Amino acid sequence: MARNANTLSHRLRNLDAYAKTLDDFSIKTISGATVTLISAAIILTLLLSEFMDYCSVDLRPELTVDKTRGEKMTINLNITFPHAPCFLLNLDVMDATGEQQVSVDHDIYKVRLDTLGNPIDEMRETHRAATQADGQGTAANTPAVPYCGSCYGGTSPSGGKCCNTCDDVRRAYSALGWAFANPDDFEQCVREHWKENLAKQNKEGCTIHGFIEVNKVSGNFHIMAGQSALHNNIHIHAIYSYMPEDYDFTHTINHLSFGTKYPNMVNPLDGAGKDSPTTTTYG
Ligand SMILES: *[C@@H]1O[C@H](CO)[C@@H](O)[C@H](O)[C@H]1NC(C)=O
Repeated sequence: MARNANTLSHRLRNLDAYAKTLDDFSIKTISGATVTLISAAIILTLLLSEFMDYCSVDLRPELTVDKTRGEKMTINLNITFPHAPCFLLNLDVMDATGEQQVSVDHDIYKVRLDTLGNPIDEMRETHRAATQADGQGTAANTPAVPYCGSCYGGTSPSGGKCCNTCDDVRRAYSALGWAFANPDDFEQCVREHWKENLAKQNKEGCTIHGFIEVNKVSGNFHIMAGQSALHNNIHIHAIYSYMPEDYDFTHTINHLSFGTKYPNMVNPLDGAGKDSPTTTTYG
């Protein structure tokens, strides 16, 4: 029995892959420590680089034919004009199918900037204007309800018969391609001091951001001064006397991308800018 147990433990011991060496062989040396440190450093570097490689996005460009029909592509944009006021700027989209979107305001937002480039809080502005008006006792500014302003031959943008604000009249006119040349001709505009308010904004800047949806054909979009309209199929921009005479189209493209965004996307125009000398429209 005892003999049997001995041979079993002997066989088991033979399986030990890490045989203990004599104490004499386990001496710690400087060179040994150096090798340990170096290999530890190498192991750590390899581990980290593998991990970082695992985490990084691998881009594989591929060219395929887009077989979808009638689908739209989005263009995301964020462009700052430090010297052109928001009311002056209009975004239009035109493409090879003949589709034109003029003065796009769906999903496109304009942020007014003060002369230092800080966004203007419109809510606070309106509030301040209202309190100022109250202080001066000009309650006559607000018409007695019910009020239904004339659209002067245009159709109301809200679908009804009334154009209650100057902007309603302006939109009714531009929908028909009519010139909205002199705001003082319209009682809504006179009451709102529209022209004076715009004159105050002449020194402001504007950031336009949002997205537009376009057909997947060649085309262009542009941001131009003045009201755009379609006249006998010709795209025109009308600049009226209430708009500034000199404008400066210096701009910075904060962001411009096509299609859905994905990580590591490179948009070559992001951060690009162009200085444009002051242009005089007339005079
Ligand atoms: C547009 O870009 C400006 C400047 O980079 C930034 O401050 C602003 O937040 C952006 N607007 C949007 C909606 O992303």
